Amino acid sequence: MAININEEKRLITLQTKNTEYQMKIDQYGILLHTYYGARIYGSDMSAAISYSERGFSGNLTIDREEIRAYSLDVLPQEYTCSSGGDYRISALSVRDAAGGTSCTLRAVSFQTEKGKYSLDGLPYVYDENNEAETLLIMMKDPYSGLEAELQYGVFEEKDIITRAVRIINRGGQTVQLEKAASLCLDWQYGDFDWLTFYGCHAQERNLQRMPVHHGVQSVGSTRGNSSHHYNPFSILCEKNTDENNGLCYAFSFVYSGEFLMEAEKDQASQTRLVLGIHPANFRWNLKPGMSFQTPEVILSCSSEGFGKLSRNMHRIIRNNVCRGEWKYKQRPVLINNWEATYFSFDAEKLISIAEESAKLGIEMLVMDDGWFGKREDDYSGLGDWYPNEKKLGCTLKKLGEEINARGLKFGIWFEPEGISEDSDLYRAHPDWAVQVPGRPPVLSRNQLVLDISRSDVQDYIIGRISDILSDAPISYVKWDMNRSICEKYSAALEPAQQGEFAHRFMLGLYHILEELTSSFPHVLFEGCSGGGGRFDAGMLYYTPQIWCSDNTDAINRLNIQYGTSFGYPVSTMGAHVSAVPNHQTGRVTPFATRGAVAMSGTFGYELDITKLTDQEKEQIRTQIDRFHKYYDLIQSGDYYRITGPQDPCAVWSFVSADRSQALITVVSRQITANSAPKHFNVPGLDAQKLYNAVFVLPEAEEKPLHVIEKVSGAALENGGLTIPTMQWWEYQAWQILITEA
Ligand code: GLA
Repeated sequence: MAININEEKRLITLQTKNTEYQMKIDQYGILLHTYYGARIYGSDMSAAISYSERGFSGNLTIDREEIRAYSLDVLPQEYTCSSGGDYRISALSVRDAAGGTSCTLRAVSFQTEKGKYSLDGLPYVYDENNEAETLLIMMKDPYSGLEAELQYGVFEEKDIITRAVRIINRGGQTVQLEKAASLCLDWQYGDFDWLTFYGCHAQERNLQRMPVHHGVQSVGSTRGNSSHHYNPFSILCEKNTDENNGLCYAFSFVYSGEFLMEAEKDQASQTRLVLGIHPANFRWNLKPGMSFQTPEVILSCSSEGFGKLSRNMHRIIRNNVCRGEWKYKQRPVLINNWEATYFSFDAEKLISIAEESAKLGIEMLVMDDGWFGKREDDYSGLGDWYPNEKKLGCTLKKLGEEINARGLKFGIWFEPEGISEDSDLYRAHPDWAVQVPGRPPVLSRNQLVLDISRSDVQDYIIGRISDILSDAPISYVKWDMNRSICEKYSAALEPAQQGEFAHRFMLGLYHILEELTSSFPHVLFEGCSGGGGRFDAGMLYYTPQIWCSDNTDAINRLNIQYGTSFGYPVSTMGAHVSAVPNHQTGRVTPFATRGAVAMSGTFGYELDITKLTDQEKEQIRTQIDRFHKYYDLIQSGDYYRITGPQDPCAVWSFVSADRSQALITVVSRQITANSAPKHFNVPGLDAQKLYNAVFVLPEAEEKPLHVIEKVSGAALENGGLTIPTMQWWEYQAWQILITEA
């Protein structure tokens, strides 16, 4: 049983293979959070709670009697309101019809169910194998009729717990939700660091590790999307935690819109973490009888460092968030024409790329931006989803057939949420663009945002895209979104509802994606937002892969893919080999290195293949063979980060589930003359088993440079391997194939 209830003590313990999470309903109905960490075998952890009077904190008052030494301001709780004497960051803020903000939640009942709860209209962790259990705890404000149903999903074997909340108004008047977080988590003890992932366009998900200090610290997005700037994934850990040791917790928000993740160290040096929709642009009117469902958070805890924690996240996202036919199916090696041609192409050019690609084993051609409406640059055409047959020189159907005839699948780019002022769509429906009446809108990449909170706009997009996907032989869609959302306003909403816009926009996006992915199950959808501006577990529910970054520089990509790997599996990371000098950095790296880095992702090419040398073309053939050979190991093996972003060498590995083989990649970021040899330990293999390690340059696997025979897994883990200095230069990649001896 994953959920254990001790009725007598009113103790609820969620148990997973290696962790436990515990709550207690106390004599006042307060839902205390008593523990989250390694197994404690159901012991009542409420004994560790200390009760003492805290000046100026306010105490629980019942029937006008103050209960001294019982202050909500210092007690660890499960879901808190912004009133009632807890002055810390809170999960729920409500404004009632009289303008007041008082709310006091008390636990009134709970129930458990087999299988996991699901959410309507939102992405969530699904449980098709019925492996999870659900706990629902009902909390109620005795004075207003407001209820909060706390939802918990427990995946015992996977060490995963999910949390979400449904707020229900059982009172007689409309209330406004000003904040409705999905998660509030308290630690009475412990001194923590917080790992968050910051960035910008073309430089996403850099790891930052900071101590949790007194006061409130936060990351979030008010950009309409989850953003390049902060990812809705973070890790809280004890000070000594590293890749292989120590206690740590992961939080992944299954949501693609504005979010706020806050951490606070309070007066008693306790830590609280709150995560949910960003309250800055959120005011939800909750009418009597209506409910509001928050998005979900995925939690995991590991006592064995970040590596294990990430592998827990990889497993749940790969198996229980990503969906559809392409979830496990081998994804095609694609070639995208963006960096090859930008907007200047026609069918003939694409066919020439396809012809050359087919000879080398590439499996799909993706036609990027510029195929529709009047779209010769990024000033016009967005929204006019009609193929530009004049530019292409043929119909879309014909182009798809020609590509198919060359043995390649055909894919296509859309940016459904964008609209250009210079477009027929805008001229016909200016009110469909997000803008505030009487004010000039803020442009970004010369474009506006289409108001997909509206059902008529949703229908337009679903209709246009469906027609195109039905009309031409299209196997893949790249779903882009190329700006942040500045104005939070819809012409279709009443003034009092404008605070619902940002979330309604997301609900609109999810509705459109749900419709299209279920109507076109054979189509592989890849998410994108100027690269990785919407790389989150919410999007992965609809698109099992996301273009990781517009930065294709292999050396910059090492850090981007490293940061991404903390929360997301390799099978979700779109990664391509591009031309040199690189278009974003001007750097020149070897073709083989670009291949080795892109291969730790979904793998493809983004260059003008017709302009490559014969030698480079030959390497494409070799790379694709290698990618196919190691596909399962890379895409579903266990991922290990071996060195960090400051190390002169990036080292990572994939280990098969049965621990019979591993593939290690080493890339030199920078080199100094006469440098020390590169040495590293190889975790994850079977300590007792013997292995052979074959060192190769990725461009010449058939000519090993170095072989070590019959070395034990324990020796690899504790003694490690060394790359000989002799064959070592800047931006060089090595691979080491480890197989059972
Ligand atoms: C975004 C994407 C790119 C490309 C362009 C096209 O920037 O991230 O890969 O598709 O749009 O305009």
